Amino acid sequence: MNFKQAIKNTVPAPVFSVIRDVPWAIRDLFDRNTQDEVMPPLRLMRDGPRGRQIWTQAGQETLHFYRDVLRLDRSSTMLDIGSGIGRRTVPLLSLVDDKARYIGLDIDRDQVRWCTRNITPRNFRFTFIHIDVFNKFYNHLGAIPPSKLVLPFPDNSFDVVSLWSVFTHMYPDDVAHYLKEIGRVLRPGGRLAASYFLVNDESKAAVGNGSFKLALHPGDRYWTTNPNMPEDMIALDEAWLRSAYTDAGLTWTEPVLRGRWAGAEVDPGLFILNWQDIVVAQAGGPTPAPTTA
Ligand SMILES: C[S@@+](CC[C@H](N)C(=O)[O-])C[C@H]1O[C@@H](n2cnc3c(N)ncnc32)[C@H](O)[C@@H]1O
Repeated sequence: MNFKQAIKNTVPAPVFSVIRDVPWAIRDLFDRNTQDEVMPPLRLMRDGPRGRQIWTQAGQETLHFYRDVLRLDRSSTMLDIGSGIGRRTVPLLSLVDDKARYIGLDIDRDQVRWCTRNITPRNFRFTFIHIDVFNKFYNHLGAIPPSKLVLPFPDNSFDVVSLWSVFTHMYPDDVAHYLKEIGRVLRPGGRLAASYFLVNDESKAAVGNGSFKLALHPGDRYWTTNPNMPEDMIALDEAWLRSAYTDAGLTWTEPVLRGRWAGAEVDPGLFILNWQDIVVAQAGGPTPAPTTA
């Protein structure tokens, strides 16, 4: 276990939320971004690997995924739950036209504020909303239990919903609730992309042969690297998840893109994105005709 993981696995959540950004805030003082591009400070890149190059690469990979796999087109309406500091949002600025709509939701107030100040002014079709949902790792003072969240949108509002590395921080019953809400706000035929750590016979076998990259502790229908704050990383049972999608009226449409975390070989063009397993699903109704970007 490395030093950072050891800290996360021992300190209480309120302490962790205070100390996690300090070294990066100091580094920001000496290493300012001087390029003319939308780029958050390292201090706020707390939602993933910190660094300007990896931030940009993650965005470019996700843009290709949106175009090539999800068939996001220039006028799609899109909901990005857990949009974080916008690493997967900024490249979309060049993709959309004046009919498109992108909404990012997150429980981290600082990140939503930064995205609203730095991304929305570049295109007012991009908006960010803070939802005060509890998560021990990301928002330990949150007032709303995740199982009670009602997505603040009417039924059938979106063509695409994405959750990148969000269900990897949520417990099974909360994931099931979110999936039902997503099934409600997606239009018939709309698509959902979400990433996971999926536990199945194959990934369990990877533990045995040493290609499993994470030490997992079992919880109630989940696994975690951090029993102190399980929301740091949660792996879900694949068979259970499949039934939760069915209950939410969502159908898996593509073979799962298995991630590097359990030793899978991935498309080099999706090297960062496909660390986790990626599931693509569709809301009930006819399969949409392919559209061009
Ligand atoms: C690992 S980060 C990923 C951020 C972004 N999706 C990306 O891939 O760059 C997880 C994000 O999910 C957000 N989050 C955690 N629990 C959430 C919940 N219940 N609802 C919405 N967002 C949540 C966190 O605040 C954090 O920004």
